[in-house]
Amino acid sequence: MADITTDVLIIGTGPAGSATAALLASYGLEPLVINRYRWLATTPRAHITNQRTMEVLRDLGRDVEDEAYMFATEQELMGENVFCTAINGEEIGRMKSWGTHPLSQAEHQLSSPSHMNDLPQTFMEPLLFKTACSRGAQARMSTEYLSHVQDEDGVTTTCLDRLTGKEVTVRSKFLIGADGGNSKVAEHAGLSFEGKMGVAGSMNILFEADLSPYVSRRPSVLYWVLQPGADVGGIGMGLVRMVRPWHEWLIVWGYDINEPPPAVDEAFAIRVVRDLTGVADLQPKIKSVSTWTVNNMYATTMSNGRVFCMGDAAHRHPPSNGLGSNTSIQDGFNLAWKLAMVIRGQAGRGLLDSYQAERAPVAKQIVTRANKSIEEFGPIFSACGLLDSVDPVKMQQNMDARCDDTPDAERQRKEIREAIAAKVYEFDAHGVEMNQRYRSDAIVTDGQPEPGFETDAELHYQPTTWPGARLPHTWLFGPDGEKVSTLDITGHGRFTVLTGIGGDAWLAAARALAKEFCIELIAHKIGPRQQWQDYTGDWARAREIRDSGAILVRPDHHVAWRCDGTIADPVGELRRVLNTILDR
Ligand code: FDA
Repeated sequence: MADITTDVLIIGTGPAGSATAALLASYGLEPLVINRYRWLATTPRAHITNQRTMEVLRDLGRDVEDEAYMFATEQELMGENVFCTAINGEEIGRMKSWGTHPLSQAEHQLSSPSHMNDLPQTFMEPLLFKTACSRGAQARMSTEYLSHVQDEDGVTTTCLDRLTGKEVTVRSKFLIGADGGNSKVAEHAGLSFEGKMGVAGSMNILFEADLSPYVSRRPSVLYWVLQPGADVGGIGMGLVRMVRPWHEWLIVWGYDINEPPPAVDEAFAIRVVRDLTGVADLQPKIKSVSTWTVNNMYATTMSNGRVFCMGDAAHRHPPSNGLGSNTSIQDGFNLAWKLAMVIRGQAGRGLLDSYQAERAPVAKQIVTRANKSIEEFGPIFSACGLLDSVDPVKMQQNMDARCDDTPDAERQRKEIREAIAAKVYEFDAHGVEMNQRYRSDAIVTDGQPEPGFETDAELHYQPTTWPGARLPHTWLFGPDGEKVSTLDITGHGRFTVLTGIGGDAWLAAARALAKEFCIELIAHKIGPRQQWQDYTGDWARAREIRDSGAILVRPDHHVAWRCDGTIADPVGELRRVLNTILDR
């Protein structure tokens, strides 16, 4: 007999675990979430928070989304990604990033009701965790996962209560490993991985110092400092990241992975801070120093029976593109509603297979992208002439040569410009963040061909209602003129049918099938003098069906199925689709 029973046990209170607990609790379940430490993340770690993640927070509630904005550094301050020789030093180039270029800004605004922002993990985790606990999740800190065994009916997990030193057993219907990059759950569940851990060494130096005099003319979250000869392999490139404008900062600095991690003392940390800021007499307050490794590994299986892994447990990669915490939270958005429906008996266990089918390709995509983004610094080093020599004097001469009045120097200036501009794939890759299209048994395409991408799929989001894609956002207007997003009237743990004038049969079908399936299935009619108005015509342009057609949207905003117009038996058709998706 286990000490504790729960429907879902979640190991880890990071972005993945806390988000999943918050979602499950919002869907009316009482999951148990544990953390081996006494509190949440104490260093800022993740910060770039993309629109899709903000949509998950918005789905949890406008209060949750608003609280995130309250603590975040707003998007407009994120934008001047700078390449320089020191924070107070010469600038080599810069690029507008994170949706702040006017063209990208327009794309962002058209794509989502939510905004990208910079929210350090030390704010994101407490927000998600508080949401989870205040809505009914149970949490147990200082409790360490040790092992699990699963059988036909559930999972028995053994944990260590680190306060008493005693073992505690938990019996759950499902177990979620959201236990980070060294996941024991993934290892014990026998998940398979591709790639390699520990491909490069990095250290974080968190410090406080007022740098506003040096950055006010080029506010950014990221400053890339190139100092010839200062580090492993001769190129000292350090990242100075704004944590709180403009007095708290994090330096990311490399170390040789072939050597043991260096013991970084305060004197070393201060030296790095002074070198990279270029302010020789700066008196930084060093808050913490830690080392970590760059990984290049993703799970090819994300579940085994009743055990599921998510977040860094399933995708392990460098912070480039800021995809880690974002993808972790989005994993939770994919899995939580499925677990809730299976636990409530509204869906068969087969629905859970779609988690792996839908998220494993995302894991591969983001790990590959993040590692490629690191390689894409190479052309900048090359163009600056930093790869030809390890002699710092020669390297500096090569870099200085770009200022000469010669054809070679003009060529070099062009190469530098192009190499920096190519970093758009790391710093403004809206498509990577928003274009995820799922293929699984929880999506019914009925053979409709997938629309190709008209522009670069990594850089630009392309809205479509093709089943599997995220429902396009457009603004609609309610009875009192209130402005709501198509994402606001869908989601929230429910299935939704969207139709228009001529689609009354779909409304009736949705009502009938909600009763028959005992599920939350609501329907909205959009059109003149209807429940929701499409005054701008944006919805009519985005929906890719006729007024009388229907789009079935899943609780995670992804289109499950669509039909172009009215048909003879809408109830029978929707029943077929729901039976397929819900594995009934
Ligand atoms: P995470 O590691 O955060 O949490 C794991 C949890 O499991 C913790 O609560 C831990 O205590 C717990 N745990 C582990 N083992 C356990 C056990 N045996 N028993 C009980 N509990 C256990 N991402 C991003 O989206 N945008 C960004 O800008 C950045 N930037 C960034 C910068 C830097 C410097 C770093 C190091 C990382 C980033 N990231 C990022 C990545 C991001 O921090 C990372 O992807 C997420 O924290 C992953 O969240 P998870 O919840 O999956 O794991």
